[in-house]
Amino acid sequence: MRKNIIAGNWKMNLSLEQGYGLASEIKWMVSDEVSNKCDIILIPPFTHLSGLNSLLKDSGIKLGAQNCHHENSGAYTGEISAEILKSVGVSYVLIGHSERRTFQNETNALLANKINRALENEIQAIYCFGETLEQRDAGNAFEVNLSQIKEGLFHLDTSQIQKVILAYEPVWAIGTGKTASPQQAQEIHRFVRQALTEKYGEATAGSISILYGGSMNPSNASELLGCEDIDGGLIGGSSLESRAFLDIIKAID
Ligand code: PGA
Repeated sequence: MRKNIIAGNWKMNLSLEQGYGLASEIKWMVSDEVSNKCDIILIPPFTHLSGLNSLLKDSGIKLGAQNCHHENSGAYTGEISAEILKSVGVSYVLIGHSERRTFQNETNALLANKINRALENEIQAIYCFGETLEQRDAGNAFEVNLSQIKEGLFHLDTSQIQKVILAYEPVWAIGTGKTASPQQAQEIHRFVRQALTEKYGEATAGSISILYGGSMNPSNASELLGCEDIDGGLIGGSSLESRAFLDIIKAID
């Protein structure tokens, strides 16, 4: 059975003090009943990781980073490697968020290398993919998502792909307040799982969690999370408020 996962991507928000405040609130609000529903991951800015690793120790809440470099070490001023992330207790890393694909021109080939570095360091990659509105309107959503999946992931073998979590994040739904309808999201999730099945077989494809991200909030979470192939959420805006984040977790059946 695949896992349900709710991950909060804080992006470039919250001072250290605010981040500690939010993580502490979430830690105290998460009861056994809630944490049994899913894995919970907080993904703060790099600067907060080490401190939050201590704060969240023994809470069951896991820590993720928003990016890593495609090399393990070297003369790359301003960059952070998966090896360094591992040393501060990071268990997950976002790879290929659309904001990085857009603003940092990250390509599928580069992202494939980043995934390799993450897995080598025993960090699970959360690989983000999704189409723009233009691509959807042109009828190319399936094709675009498939090429992101193939070029970013299909070099992995069966045991490696099981360490990857996928996140469908339609670019037009991120931070816009527009959410994909449950039907639109489920259709892409099902299509991606089919592609994984063709490449890795049914058992492996069935064990991989595929999250939805893009303006998920407490009001639309239960419908989205109720879809057969949606195994959790990657939450941006609504992860910055403890009550909203917890309400999304509670929306899991
Ligand atoms: P959003 O962001 O929930 O604010 O739309 C999601 C994401 O970018 O991961």
